[in-house]
Amino acid sequence: MNKESLENIGASFHAELAKASSAKDIEALRIKYLGRKAGILTTHLRSLGGLSPEEKREFGPITNALRAEIEEALEDAEGKTQTTREHVDITMPAIPARLPSLHPLTIIESRIRSIFARLGFAAIDGPELETEYYAFESLNIPKEHPARDMWDTFWIKNPGQGGVHATASGKERLLLRPHTSPVQVRYMETHAPPIRIIVPGRTFRHEATDASHEANFHQVEGLFVDTHVSVANLKHTLTYFLKELFGADTKLRLRPSFFPFVEPGLEVDINWRGEWLEVAGAGMVHQRVFKAVKYPPKMQGFAFGAGLDRLAMIAYDIPDIRLLYSGDIRLTERL
Ligand code: FA5
Repeated sequence: MNKESLENIGASFHAELAKASSAKDIEALRIKYLGRKAGILTTHLRSLGGLSPEEKREFGPITNALRAEIEEALEDAEGKTQTTREHVDITMPAIPARLPSLHPLTIIESRIRSIFARLGFAAIDGPELETEYYAFESLNIPKEHPARDMWDTFWIKNPGQGGVHATASGKERLLLRPHTSPVQVRYMETHAPPIRIIVPGRTFRHEATDASHEANFHQVEGLFVDTHVSVANLKHTLTYFLKELFGADTKLRLRPSFFPFVEPGLEVDINWRGEWLEVAGAGMVHQRVFKAVKYPPKMQGFAFGAGLDRLAMIAYDIPDIRLLYSGDIRLTERL
């Protein structure tokens, strides 16, 4: 062993390292020089044992220093190949993220809740599975009344196995509510006037679908009851509501109409895409409804039921109601 041969080992290691370009090359070098069995430097280190004490003192530190140098150089080189592999160019244009957003129906509902909250209306819930009494009779639509045809109803089958609801007044058929109006009655039965509520919720009708009709859709009911309530109050509230929702330029039209639970009754249309689209039914609460909930005759009130899906279609320019239920991700991405 001599100094020169050690220096040669160091030099050839560095020359080979300079050519190594992959993690694999570096690992091969580690084995060649530091490998436990036949590494060049390992063999040298092992041969130190056979040297005289003087030689040991001379070559021991140089050989160990060379080992440390090689180890460090290998480690450095390895670190560099890793950074090359994981290198991120932060100046590259980013891939646009597909950000999720709420569903148009969720957004429209929460906007409506906040518009009416400002007017002092509380938002409440009601059952989707209803009894015939709340869906029709209490709303002045007796059995066999032709007005029932206005609501193509999903009746629950299997009487006796959940299709019939036992009440104090006897057994009743169950149905999926075709409108949110039953909640008016449920609420008045348990709350004294004055009343200011909205009821957003799911509704169901057994009807063919088209661009503005679904079998499964949503309504938002409104109910205002006090001692002095007029058609002017109803008109103002509806106009304020729809202009808050769609902007001050919104064109709306009120048409006389008929619903058994209001008198007079009217319908509300919005001019959209050059045509009139019906968005709500409304009117002054019929005295028979007040009677059904045992309110005194002096009470007055207005009610309305708006199609939530149609309001969402207008607000977000969605041409077909069925798109709201399509699961198409583009629907939520563009909001
Ligand atoms: C009713 O359901 C009444 N309960 C509304 C009402 C409440 C009148 C209180 C008076 C007082 P109508 O069937 O017109 O009315 O439905 C109300 C609104 O729901 C419609 O104007 C429309 O916007 C929406 N709507 C009705 N049927 C569908 C359907 N199949 N698909 C989507 N929206 C519908």
